[in-house]
Amino acid sequence: MTYQNLILEPADNGKVAVLTVNRPKALNALNADTLDEILQAVAQVAADKEARVLLITGGGDKAFIAGADIAAMQNMSALEGQAFSEQGQRVMQAIEALPIPVIALVNGYALGGGCELAMSCDWIIASERAVFGQPEVNLGIPPGFGGTQRLARLVGRARALEFVTTGRSVKAEEALRIGLVNDVVAAAQLMEKGLEAARLVAAKAPVAVRVAKQAVQRGLDMDLANGCVLETTLFAFAFGTEDRKEGMTAFLAKRAAKFEGR
Ligand code: CAA
Repeated sequence: MTYQNLILEPADNGKVAVLTVNRPKALNALNADTLDEILQAVAQVAADKEARVLLITGGGDKAFIAGADIAAMQNMSALEGQAFSEQGQRVMQAIEALPIPVIALVNGYALGGGCELAMSCDWIIASERAVFGQPEVNLGIPPGFGGTQRLARLVGRARALEFVTTGRSVKAEEALRIGLVNDVVAAAQLMEKGLEAARLVAAKAPVAVRVAKQAVQRGLDMDLANGCVLETTLFAFAFGTEDRKEGMTAFLAKRAAKFEGR
């Protein structure tokens, strides 16, 4: 599959998929075509039996994604704005629902829809040049691709309210301090650090990784008791896999496990 505004390429013998949003002239801003392509690319990764982790980053050296495309939104009616928000939210939900872990490698501006896309990933590694924010109030709109919801869940109600009402942006170190990102690394090392994290995941039992992700993601939308019921169900499901037998046998035999994803 070829894309106009994206690059989707394999790394590490196909165990890692790397998706680069690539419209550097517009700082990788998300227009409808780019959102459509991201949805297709996520479906392509979901169908790829080899891929164990998806890394998402931005093309060029300035931006991860500088938001939804303001030029594309300029003349939208309220109904068109609604459709655009729904399209963006479908993309974020598809990223979040991908069975394999997704790591955002934020190499520069992650503003508006860019911050929202990063937050739909399972975790974020930021370059020291990264800048995060939800500046939509400067344009007369609130965040529309899930930002009001995911930001509050990630950094708490008060910080989310401060961000979405002032439009204030934060640099990588502050994003680390408030728990928006997991790590901050030198700009030149971002991809290598992302690949290192991906390799850690790719070396584990694939079914266990998938159900662990599912338990956390789905559990966050449940009360504790129901989340624990879900966890038990997924735990029991993993017991039925060959990789569970292999993992425990290898541990007891003091050798490295060889996981096959079944
Ligand atoms: N949409 C469309 N084009 C954008 C863009 C965006 N979100 N962000 C940057 N660009 C374009 C600029 O218009 C400019 O294009 P030209 O060269 O053709 O003039 C090019 O990218 C480079 O941008 P700047 O010259 O502005 O670069 P800078 O280094 O001076 O500033 C910046 C960088 C601070 C990120 C600035 O570009 C900026 O503030 N961008 C907008 C950020 C923003 O408001 N994002 C939220 C969008 S709304 C949204 O996302 C809604 C939602 O939740 C769904």
